[in-house]
Amino acid sequence: MTAKNKIYSRITTSTLQELKNNNQKISMLTAYDYTFAKLLDQAGIEVILVGDSASNVIGGHETTLPITLNQMIYHASSVIRGVKRSLVVVDLPFGTYQANSRVALESAIRIMKESGAHSVKVEGGSNVRESIERIIQAGIPVMGHLGLTPQSIYKFGTYSVRAKEKSEADKLLNDAKMLQDIGCFCLILEKIPAKLAKKISSILKIPVIGIGAGNSVDGQVLVLHDMLGINQDFNPRFIRRYLNLKEEIILAVKNYIKDVKDIKFPNQSEQY
Ligand code: KIV
Repeated sequence: MTAKNKIYSRITTSTLQELKNNNQKISMLTAYDYTFAKLLDQAGIEVILVGDSASNVIGGHETTLPITLNQMIYHASSVIRGVKRSLVVVDLPFGTYQANSRVALESAIRIMKESGAHSVKVEGGSNVRESIERIIQAGIPVMGHLGLTPQSIYKFGTYSVRAKEKSEADKLLNDAKMLQDIGCFCLILEKIPAKLAKKISSILKIPVIGIGAGNSVDGQVLVLHDMLGINQDFNPRFIRRYLNLKEEIILAVKNYIKDVKDIKFPNQSEQY
């Protein structure tokens, strides 16, 4: 069997490294509940991210900041119950790791213990180095996240492309190297120039997964509700919609309402 068609019965952090080493791309999507997680797992996705984007797409908040640790644990444990094969990564939400490394470790331990997840994701570079180091020292795999880090939206002021200027690009590259050096197993790069993302993924030995970072990285991640076309309020150019579920769902619900009003549902065979 060639490296290319090797079948993995369980995806681990080492599998992702193996995929990068064999020049194979990594697929990753978000999920926040049991039902969708089960479908993604069955479809063969390698990584499921229980993203704090749940704050937007599930909670209806404008930003990712309001979601709490308890809410993330609820989403993560629901996802875990649907998964047999995929690697599950859970975002440490805003406010649960920045204060100090002890708080960060306690938050990561709660996620691992109470949800059964396999790893956590932390936004930031040198500013959160100590927190990430302490989590990794405790044996918890950490995925880094640089570029447009949505928890810092009020610092950035806008959701536009990051690291277009040399100084920010240099800092991003240094942070990426540092995250690898302290032991992160993987890195997400969000909304940065494709050229910079290509450079970083060729320099780093660990896998680099992009969202709005071009196709020269080691894998791609999208928010599930965006790529399925359930949520169409958010339209950055990096989203590809694989379905137009919003329209299909609205049509199905309209048909149901009509059938109820016209006493066409339930029919003879749908009752006892
Ligand atoms: O929370 C999330 O969905 C994310 C992805 C956009 C990478 O962090």
